[in-house]
Amino acid sequence: MITLVIFTILCANLIIYSFPANGVSTIKLGDQLNFTSQLLSPNSTFTLGFFTIPATSYTYLGIWYTNDGQLRRVWVANPSVPIISSSSFLMINPDNGKLIITTQETTLFNISDNVAGSSTNLIATLEDNGNFVLKRKTSNQTIWQSFDHPTNVLLPGMKLGSDLETGKTWNLTSRLSDEILDSGAFSLNWEPNGENSQRFMVRRRGQLYWTSGNLQNQAFEFMNVNNLINAR
Ligand SMILES: *[C@@H]1O[C@H](CO)[C@@H](O)[C@H](O)[C@H]1NC(C)=O
Ligand SMILES: *[C@@H]1O[C@H](CO)[C@@H](O)[C@H](O)[C@H]1NC(C)=O
Ligand SMILES: *[C@@H]1O[C@H](CO)[C@@H](O)[C@H](O)[C@H]1NC(C)=O
Ligand SMILES: *[C@@H]1O[C@H](CO)[C@@H](O)[C@H](O)[C@H]1NC(C)=O
Ligand SMILES: *[C@@H]1O[C@H](CO)[C@@H](O)[C@H](O)[C@H]1NC(C)=O
Repeated sequence: MITLVIFTILCANLIIYSFPANGVSTIKLGDQLNFTSQLLSPNSTFTLGFFTIPATSYTYLGIWYTNDGQLRRVWVANPSVPIISSSSFLMINPDNGKLIITTQETTLFNISDNVAGSSTNLIATLEDNGNFVLKRKTSNQTIWQSFDHPTNVLLPGMKLGSDLETGKTWNLTSRLSDEILDSGAFSLNWEPNGENSQRFMVRRRGQLYWTSGNLQNQAFEFMNVNNLINAR
């Protein structure tokens, strides 16, 4: 009986992987990524595509580890604006260069901001570190990247903190639930504390909930990182 269950699970995984992404890691102007096609990073580590949550029938655009049997999403483009339409596309808007989720008639969600200048040589690539990057092909200039808009997962290469010059912040935000991907109550922030020290802060609806304590001499006041590393 147990063998049968395991066998069934393996088959289910095989079925999922036997419809592989078509091996393309980029979209350029004029391409449309529909509900049934996916982007695959060049070495296949990450997949980007639409997924629908059965409990709500809401559809989102997300990124996951290709070989994660549980298909946990490490990034979601539209957590607070789920898609209800059944025929939507990811594409680059020829008018303003934005990455958008759209139907034939209307833009459902703007993923990125307006792009100054021509949109003809824009290209969006799912990279092997899980970053989805909109660039100018000619100048290699990054215009927008998913690593600048983290959801609830920190991947290697992503950063937390803030840019004091631009005021931009990078933090993680919890999900409301596994079914409703909208922001939950908690955020994880990397915050300065005075001139020379920084600390992790977990905030609950903006109020301090937990802190690592200051980082001093490569150690946190209230968190023993060596123990965490040794515990693995
Ligand atoms: C989705 O896109 C793929 C690849 O471009 C194409 O082969 C397929 O027919 C499309 N499916 C629908 C329903 O449009
Ligand atoms: C997307 O951005 C355009 C402007 O570039 C705006 O007109 C439109 O209302 C936006 N759509 C959504 C769904 O936010
Ligand atoms: C894919 O590329 C990433 C980033 O360069 C690397 O960390 C990873 O080991 C590679 N994976 C495979 C299966 O080659
Ligand atoms: C483009 O920029 C990326 C980093 O953003 C770099 O890894 C890559 O080598 C560059 N490519 C070219 C052709 O300059
Ligand atoms: C987290 O970052 C977002 C923008 O990315 C910002 O609106 C929000 O205020 C930040 N939250 C905290 C607690 O810093």
